[in-house]
Amino acid sequence: MLSHLRLDKDKDSPLYIQLYESIRDAIEEETLESEKLPSIRALAKQLGVNNVTVVNAYKQLEQDNYVYTVKGSGTFIKQPSFSQENSLVEEGDMELMLSGIFPLLKNSIDFASVSPTPELFPIEEFKKSLVEVLDRDGGQAFLYPEITGFGPLRESISQFLLEHYSIAATKDQILITSGGQQGLDIISKTLIQQGDVILVENPTYPGAFAAFQSRGARILGIPMDDEGIDLVELKAYVKRYRPKFIYLMPNYHSPTTICYSESRKKEVLRLAREYGFYIIEDDFLTDLGFSDEKKLPLKTLDRFDQVIFIKSFSKIFMPGVRIGFMTLPKALMRDIIKAKHTTDISSSGYLQRAFDLYLRKGFWRDHINKITSFYRGRYRLMIAGLENLKPLGISYLQPHGGLSVWVSLPRGVDGIKLYEECGKRGLAIVPGKVFFTDDKDAEKYIRLSFSAVSEEDIQKGLEILKDVLSPSMDEPSERYMPFL
Ligand SMILES: Cc1ncc(COP(=O)(O)O)c(C=O)c1O
Repeated sequence: MLSHLRLDKDKDSPLYIQLYESIRDAIEEETLESEKLPSIRALAKQLGVNNVTVVNAYKQLEQDNYVYTVKGSGTFIKQPSFSQENSLVEEGDMELMLSGIFPLLKNSIDFASVSPTPELFPIEEFKKSLVEVLDRDGGQAFLYPEITGFGPLRESISQFLLEHYSIAATKDQILITSGGQQGLDIISKTLIQQGDVILVENPTYPGAFAAFQSRGARILGIPMDDEGIDLVELKAYVKRYRPKFIYLMPNYHSPTTICYSESRKKEVLRLAREYGFYIIEDDFLTDLGFSDEKKLPLKTLDRFDQVIFIKSFSKIFMPGVRIGFMTLPKALMRDIIKAKHTTDISSSGYLQRAFDLYLRKGFWRDHINKITSFYRGRYRLMIAGLENLKPLGISYLQPHGGLSVWVSLPRGVDGIKLYEECGKRGLAIVPGKVFFTDDKDAEKYIRLSFSAVSEEDIQKGLEILKDVLSPSMDEPSERYMPFL
């Protein structure tokens, strides 16, 4: 181990830096045979240097997150906390979960899907817009649209961004996409080269993970706390890997529902500026808040064109319309437009025209108010029911918005087993594992959604969950940790 190492005393660079760099390179190139570095004394002897030189090199490696020290045992190479090699997201599982096709879903109560409720779709208003476009534009509506999208719709979106989020973006800085997922795919196509490191929150949205992975990215996850992504870890990873972009969901994060604090948002932006990476902000639920506090995107604070804002309307309008958009940073505009062209030339012109009219006629605000009050009712019901299950050892953050709750399970209860057990009794839930790509905390959580389920079924579903979580007489009682 490290037998090839040579330090040059005549060089300007201090010996400990030379040593640090050699070991760092070996770790990055994965050429070391062992996870454990040689002891300080052994390596100092081998290199003919003071112990202090090795101590300082190891300290620097630890500071930059390459190694960790176990007192009394030695210094070890740190494994990234989350990598595609040890991903637990199996393709079959993920596809099933993402498309909402659960083997157990048939005739089940659906706490799994975050699909919006069709009864809330603004069919009458959209129908008016569709008919009006046909009368107004005739065949023009079915020509190839501009690659970037129908001009008047981009104007409407520019207005929408200003009015709702205080984001200033001209129509030329907007690209209409066929849903938010396409935005993620286009960014992957534009920016990722085989082997590039992309940083994401851990857990994260598996659809984004899959898009990045499909372009050969190496994906590393950064843990989160109640205010957003962990800054210390993020900084260490950014310094070490210099990613082109990181991927975040700052409002009602999927699946944890965490909303970033203002200070966390600012710190992330500051890091992006210091280390020159883009932030992909995936916004799919900012508009669906149930308290008086209005959430704004990270993009609202972006003064230096570092945030690429990708907006999905699927949860808050109608997913089948397949319209979303992304903002275009100046430096990437041409490449992103080229990527959109090779993907599908452009999004449906007819639907873009109809959505433009829908926005211009001012239907949007009423619609958002209506769905917010509807989902608020279901949210409150779900939270009230979950409060009653707390004595069984579950816990959760109250998201005050969004369409699901991220539930931490009692000690000893495995999310996958719970998913299977609930499924047998006619309740579909999502095991947290599908959102993690390492196995550290993967079994500790489940996601419960309330968007596609009636009030009556929320009550019934919670009863099933209670039954499954309640210790039965013949099970060892230490499996449960009540009153946590
Ligand atoms: C976090 C997140 N981002 C993006 C998408 C993709 O949305 P769209 O339907 O607009 O492609 C989804 C869909 O579920 C999602 O959950």
